[in-house]
Amino acid sequence: MAKLTENRFWRSLFRRPLPDSDLDRMLTMFSNFFLHILPAKVHRHSLKPGATWGLGVISFVLFLVLIVTGVLLMFFYVPSVERAYRDMKDLKYVVSYGVILRNMHRWAAHGMVAAVFLHMVRVFFTGSYKPPREFNWVLGILLWGITLLLSFTGYLLPWDQLAYWAITVGTSIASYPPWIGEKIRVLLLGGNIVGESALLRFYVLHVVFLPMVLMVLAAVHFWRVRKDGGIARPIALALHPVAGGGPTSAEATARFVPGPLKTYTLVELVRGTSPQVGIQAPEEEVPSWPHLTMRLLIVFELVLVVLTAVSFLFDAPLLEQANPVRPDNPAKAPWYFLGIQELVSYSALVGGVLVPAIALLGLMSIPYMDRDRSDQGIWFGSPAGKRAAWISFLLTVLVIPALLFLDSRFGVRQVAPGAPQFFTDLLNPASVLTTLMAVSSFLTWRATRSRRLGAMVLFTAFVSAYLVFTVIGTYFRGPNWVWVWPWQ
Ligand code: HEM
Repeated sequence: MAKLTENRFWRSLFRRPLPDSDLDRMLTMFSNFFLHILPAKVHRHSLKPGATWGLGVISFVLFLVLIVTGVLLMFFYVPSVERAYRDMKDLKYVVSYGVILRNMHRWAAHGMVAAVFLHMVRVFFTGSYKPPREFNWVLGILLWGITLLLSFTGYLLPWDQLAYWAITVGTSIASYPPWIGEKIRVLLLGGNIVGESALLRFYVLHVVFLPMVLMVLAAVHFWRVRKDGGIARPIALALHPVAGGGPTSAEATARFVPGPLKTYTLVELVRGTSPQVGIQAPEEEVPSWPHLTMRLLIVFELVLVVLTAVSFLFDAPLLEQANPVRPDNPAKAPWYFLGIQELVSYSALVGGVLVPAIALLGLMSIPYMDRDRSDQGIWFGSPAGKRAAWISFLLTVLVIPALLFLDSRFGVRQVAPGAPQFFTDLLNPASVLTTLMAVSSFLTWRATRSRRLGAMVLFTAFVSAYLVFTVIGTYFRGPNWVWVWPWQ
């Protein structure tokens, strides 16, 4: 080992030996290109598994796996209607380990969609979007959108029946917004049908444009985590040395002794005031090397092990070659859009345009409405928050089947089949549910005067509804989108 590391070449690569003092550990973090995005020291609270469940890191590791497997797949794939499907077959039967490569790429893509979604849920329920992290939340929503688009554009590439009809459905949902919808669809497809130009456009978006945008946004996202002071933690911990079960924020503030504010100037280049150092607990912070770096390595390896195991056990689906004249019935969008497809089946305007637009704007505005930081970094904020989340979850899960049942018996289409579309748009399960969600959130806010509780009710209902509609679209819809039981 000594022979390997004690020579000029090694030292030109790694300028510092393995650190054995705290100073060295911090210098290692500073001087390494890959590590310098991380802080030199990290608060113990951020290292607890329950603080983040590692979901942001898991999302990023899956993205890295997607880049590596994606580049390898590019060696064997040509995006043309004649070649695409054959190349998929070759990957399965001809290329060594081609099937594993494809499986890893496919399962990592699904895993990333799920991990990013769960990461957003974690960030919300720990109140980690509050100032100064509002903008990072908005960036996160954009990242979620790009992740979905990346997965969606990749869906078409195998050019089998599943891909073809899922994209046909997905792009027709995209055409619902009035005025611009049809233009978006034509822009995406390069024409009116899913054909050669669509395949090429999806390919270029999938392998060049969207990954580049995601990389840039993710870099800004990570940089902001650093600039916002690391992972959000309870205010009391931010000021007081004792982790967990420490004093309330008021006690901590009372015991906080502000240090003198010094003014510094760096050769006229930088002006500012030094950060205040009171009794603010250096002992609660530990060097990132090895405490954080080891944890990151473990998460990285776990993701790889699980993904490889899954890829050996389960093959990515590949149906027969795409056939534009034989539609699948039901033709289903990719699973993460099935909730929207379900809503669209009630009303294209409400399900395909209004609800997604309201949801998107609502999600983005959360941190600008709820700015009280007193419960940041605490799961559900308080026992009342936990109760609100549970009640909202249970109500949503119960109300949706009830609404579907009522719609199937007394809905506009049943009672007055000839009624103008306007009435179906106005009164259908999606519009009624959205109204109920908004009203219950407003009433919670009125009753408690707590924006956090109002947001809690709304967000929990949104996440629960997204999941319930996705399950319904996946398992309970059969030919012509009629209700079927999964065992039928
Ligand atoms: C490609 C997608 C994403 C990646 C790779 C990513 C990655 C990360 C990472 C590594 C962190 C550090 C903490 C952790 O591991 O949880 C983080 C924090 C954060 N993320 Fe994301 N993220 C993504 C999407 C999102 C989404 C969809 C949202 C919310 C809408 C979001 C909002 C935030 C916020 C507010 C923080 C700071 C949290 C705190 O201070 O506790 N991110 N993200």
